[in-house]
Parts: sequence; C-alpha cells; structure tokens
Amino acid sequence: MNKDQLAKVAQAMVAPGKGILAADESSGTIKKRFDAIGVESTADSRRDYREFMFRTQDAMTQNISGVILYDETIRQNAKDGTPLVKLIEAAGSLPGIKVDAGVKPLPNFPGETITEGLDGLSERMAEYYKLGARFAKWRAVIDIADGIPTRGAILANAQALARYAAICQANDIVPIVEPEVLMDGGHTLERCYDVTEFVLKTLYDELYEARVFLEGTVLKPNMIVPGKLCATQASSEQIAAQTIRVFKQTVPVAVPGIAFLSGGQADVEATANLDAINKMAKLPWNVTFSYGRALQAAPQKAWAGKDTNVIGAQKAFSHRAKMNGLASKGEWSRSLEG
Ligand code: 13P
Repeated sequence: MNKDQLAKVAQAMVAPGKGILAADESSGTIKKRFDAIGVESTADSRRDYREFMFRTQDAMTQNISGVILYDETIRQNAKDGTPLVKLIEAAGSLPGIKVDAGVKPLPNFPGETITEGLDGLSERMAEYYKLGARFAKWRAVIDIADGIPTRGAILANAQALARYAAICQANDIVPIVEPEVLMDGGHTLERCYDVTEFVLKTLYDELYEARVFLEGTVLKPNMIVPGKLCATQASSEQIAAQTIRVFKQTVPVAVPGIAFLSGGQADVEATANLDAINKMAKLPWNVTFSYGRALQAAPQKAWAGKDTNVIGAQKAFSHRAKMNGLASKGEWSRSLEG
C-alpha cells in the first residue's frame, strides 16, 4: 500500500472548491433517467451523454475533482476514439470506479439489503487501476421504516464496506465509503439522526478492525434530513446543525474529507444545504459534494438526447458544478442561481 499516494489522492478529491461527479449509474438506472427525457439508452447514447459532461472544460478543470464511472464507461471511447478516461485526466480530474455489484435482499432480515461484490474484487481493482481508476465507490443502503434498520443488517453492511476499503487500499485505490441512509418514507429528522449516528459509529469500528488507513479514504454520507413524506420538513440551517453534530460524534479527524450524496434532494436544495453546513462552522474535514442527480438533473433535461442542445446542456452542468464548488467553501448564495 502506497500511503502517501492514497492520502494525496484523497485530499485532491475533496480539495476546496471542488467535488465529485457521480456518473456511475448502472445500465438500469441510466435507462430510467433517459426514459424521463425521452432518450433511448444505448451504448452510444450513454457515451454521447457522458462525453459532453467530461468535455465541459470550466466545470471539469475548476470544480470537478473526480468522476465516478461505471464499468462500461471506464472502457469506453469518445466519438473521436479518445478514451473517456483520458478526457477526465486531461482536465486535471481523477477517474474513479463504482465496484459494488448492487444490493440484494439480506436473508433473515425482511426489508433490508446487503451490498454484494466482494468476490474477485482484488483482481478487478488491479484491472481498474491499469485502466486509470485512482479511487472507487461502494454504496451500502440503509432504509428506515417500522422495525428497521436492525443492528444485524447495519453490521453486515459495515463489515462489507470495511472489507472493500481494505481491498481498495491494497491496490493503491482510495475507497469512497458510502453508507446511505435513505430519505424515503415519513420518518423524522431526529430518527435520521439516530440511525445515521449508529451507522457511522459501526462503520468506523469496522474500518478500524479491518486496519483501513483513514487518511486514504473519503466518506460519502447522507445529510441529516427528515424523510420525504415527513409532515415536518427542515430548514437548511436545521439540517446543517444536525449533520455537523452527527459527524462530530462519529467521524475521526484523520478522515480528510466528507463528500455528500444528494439522495433525492432537489438540485438547488442540495447546494443550499451543503453551503449551510460550510457556513455554520469551521470543520476538521473538507466537506463537499459527490452528487449524481443534483449535478445532472439540469444538464440531462437541457440535453434531451440532441446534439444541437449540447452547448446549453454544458452550460447547465457548469452552472451546477460552480454553485456546488462555491457551496463547498460556504460562499454560495441563492441570488447566484439567476
Ligand atoms: P445521488 O447524488 O443521485 O444520490 O447519487 C450519488 C451516488 O453516487 C449514490 O451512490
């Protein structure tokens, strides 16, 4: 394990003013996104879509520290034959790769899931490193409902995340550890706090047991928010205060950075909440974004599968990347949204 390189890459991923573009939608998920804008999902349309984002110079050079790719994309070439990975590197950004194989029902734990993909992972990592990946992502999913999550399911998912992180580092790849507590359902902000606190405590115990080098990791968590169907919604300041509180209770300061998922928050809302967190306190971690939907919703809509829309779509992508870059420094304001 090259600890110096791991620590340097992890710091670059969360450099002030920058964050991560999660463009690692599986073929099933990207089809859903394309269905919504009336675009057929083919290898070429997926390539065209991702290519215009990776060629958006101002966003990629100024605000996007790294891009999480899907297995198909890390092997794909741009229309002119240049590997997509090379476009990302040429912009000074880091290629990353989603390596989990998705969630499956967890036997004996009704309504709960386990993330799969550990078998053969070390060999896959070595190949991804050769293809250019310098960081990876593994997402565990924790749902809140009556009687769940259980301690057993949280433990199983935290152990898988820790095994994955250790395998990443053995291959000189920085692990993004992502334990996502979903915002589906009607639970309160307080319940999200309690579940997330337990999940993060368990996760850092397991990372310790697995001897993971924390300086060479990035945490990708949810914010502390009420469920989408909860009658009492929260302000950005309330979300920021509880999100900061939970990290102070659970995340070691050896971790260089925290990069949030957007998880179904509207795009400007995800920016406003990140900004509120960074305005509220001087934190011992760089706190930024690793957004999928909150970065891509606007450019996807503007593109709608047409070459003639690419410039407008790139503008929409640049704008969201810039707004989130400002939010990562607590320098965003609503008036900049135009
Ligand atoms: P969202 O920001 O759309 O939640 O996606 C981020 C991600 O990578 C989830 O694993």
